[in-house]
Parts: sequence; C-alpha cells; structure tokens
Amino acid sequence: MKLFDVYPLFNITPVKASGCNVWDADGKKYLDLYGGHAVISIGHSHPHYVEKIAKQLSEIGFYSNSIQNPLQTELAQKLGIISGCPDYQLFLCNSGAEANENAIKLASFVTGKKKIISYKKGFHGRTSVAVAITDNPKIIAPVNETDNAIILPFNDIAATEKALQNGDVAAIIVEGIQGIGGINIPEKGFLDKLKKLTEKYDSLLILDEIQSGYGRSGKFFAFQYSNVQPDLITVAKGMGNGFPIGGVLIKPEIKPWYGMLGTTFGGNHLACAAGIAVLDVIQQEKLVENSEKVGNYLMEKLAEISSEYEIRGKGLMIGLEFKFPIKELRQKLLFDFGIFTGVSGQNIIRLLPPLNLTISEANQFLTAFKEVLVEFSA
Ligand SMILES: Cc1ncc(COP(=O)(O)O)c(C=O)c1O
Repeated sequence: MKLFDVYPLFNITPVKASGCNVWDADGKKYLDLYGGHAVISIGHSHPHYVEKIAKQLSEIGFYSNSIQNPLQTELAQKLGIISGCPDYQLFLCNSGAEANENAIKLASFVTGKKKIISYKKGFHGRTSVAVAITDNPKIIAPVNETDNAIILPFNDIAATEKALQNGDVAAIIVEGIQGIGGINIPEKGFLDKLKKLTEKYDSLLILDEIQSGYGRSGKFFAFQYSNVQPDLITVAKGMGNGFPIGGVLIKPEIKPWYGMLGTTFGGNHLACAAGIAVLDVIQQEKLVENSEKVGNYLMEKLAEISSEYEIRGKGLMIGLEFKFPIKELRQKLLFDFGIFTGVSGQNIIRLLPPLNLTISEANQFLTAFKEVLVEFSA
C-alpha cells in the first residue's frame, strides 16, 4: 500500500531529537525553530516527559472512559492552576480540530442556537464545523459547506454586532493570536468587546488557543494579554509536546450531563501522563517566562537587522512578513544552515520554536538569518 500523498515533503528524515535540535539519518544537526507545527513546547524528548510516558506505558496505557482515571483529575487540576483558570472544567480529546468541534457543540447545546462567527485568516481545523468556519475555501469540501458559518473581517466589531443581531449565533470563535493566517494579533480591546457582545446577544465566546496557548505567547494563554474571561478555551498542540491530546476548558456555569460529549481515546492514561509531564516541565523550568524573554530578545534583534520585513508576534510566536516570496530564503536556512522555520502564505516566515529556546540558540538563528538575508536584499 502507498501513502495517500497529501503533504509536500522536505527530503529530510529526522531520526533523533533533543531540546531544540533534531538530527537526520545522516547525522546532520538542525535547529528547530518550528517545533513541528508549534507542537513541541517543552523541547524534544525531554527526559522527564520520556520517563513519565515510559513508566505509564509499563503500568497501564489505556482504558475506556468508563472507569476512574485519577490522571485526568491530576491533569485538570495542574492545568487549572498553571493556566490561571482554576474554576474551569476540562473535557479531554485528541486533537485541535476535535477540541473546536466539541467547544462549538457545547456552545450550541447551551444556547440552543446554530450559527458560529469566525474571522478572516482564521484556522480552526479540518473536520466538519471546524473547517466550515476556517477561512480557506480550498479545504472546505461540499459536505462541509453550511449556512451556519459566518466568517467576518478580523477586528471588525461593527460587522460582528450586526451578525449577532439576528439572535441565532451560538458562539464567536477567535484565535488568541492567529497562527496559520500569519501571526496576527487581535487589536487592543477587540477580545473584550467580543465578550461584551456575546453577553448582550446570549451567545458564547470561544478562544482557540490551540497554537497560541500553553505558554507560546509569553503568557499561558494569548488572550491573557486582554482582560477577557472566555466561556470556552480550546487547547492541543503544545499540550502533549507531540503526544496527541487536546482539550476544552469550560467555564463553571456550563453544566454537563451524561453523554453530552464523549470520546474513545480522549483522556487515556498515556495522553494524561504526557500532558502532566508537559505541565511539570513548563512550571519547573519557567518556560512561559522563557518564551517571553527569548521571544522579546529575538524580536528586538530582528528589528535591528533589517527593515525589509514587518515583525509581528508575542513570545515565541513570531511572524516576519516580507514583500517577496520567502520559499527560497526558507530553503536556504534549512539546507545551508540547518534551521527549520515555518511559513504562512507566500511571504511570511513563522517562528514557533520549543519554549526552552536559549538566547544562544536564538543567536545561532540570528547569525544565519543575517547571512541569508544579504542574498535576498534589494
Ligand atoms: C489555531 C488552530 N486551531 C485548530 C487547529 C487544528 O488542530 P489539529 O491539527 O490538531 O486538528 C490548528 C492547527 O494548526 C490551529 O493552528
């Protein structure tokens, strides 16, 4: 059987990884400023993470959600404290799209309404409603098309209020910082205004923190740069440092009933062990603080290097928007200097490294970047 060929691949085969580095099959070392799609939070193969998962696997790896699993409670408690959301309730699932599907379903159950407002350049996943509210017609199949999706210009409060006035909107969903759309930060006050509007029109606010959460922005959640308390918060990516796990944080006023949500794999023992290990390391190694510190350093230095690109970001979620396509520049960084970076559209480089990136590793990137840039400068 062949693989279903949906991914354009670099001809690189990573076989080993540690911290912010990966090594390919020929022993070449790379600096990972992409974290495998913003997934690696505490660094590759962190010893505490490896030990926790290995130990858990040797004890019990899985049982269904019909028994007591104290690891779920431990994960929820730790996440509540570290994230500053101790009163929320946690529903565990396996991926970002699934977290958003469940959050939207909950909002619809709670309000009895059908429509969802999302924003241009937003990305919320590739499944059913998650893809319908994602601003990318290419990945929306006919079966995903629905009148329940309302995609509005980002930061447009007037358009949002107008759409809410029909009284049929279950939720507004918005990323803490837009990731795939090119690292776009909500305008000051935007999220707070959205929350007020959802209260006025009996709707809910969902913060999609799947990419921007778990310390990436220099705060645990990117929305914490505002004063907003969302009704629902979705997480995945950095939550498991590569182990598939996602979750919905649900405000205390929303009451569950048996069967309201459910999953076979979500919250299994192994996933919880991974999730707990991630939070242990984030706390012990002060990775949220490190993300802010090293992120600020990088953005400061990047601003000194050149004015040929616009820099956007918070913490270790950084976008560099050029006036020209960056495909070749990115390939040079990867193949000549061994540095992985991410992309958005044609002209934007995304930096989403593990949150334990050091100043010295940041300098390694800056030196390479300066050299590469000379070739591409006007
Ligand atoms: C903001 C955001 N939401 C949702 C998703 C979907 O997550 P997953 O690929 O785990 O389904 C992503 C993935 O990139 C994302 O960046």
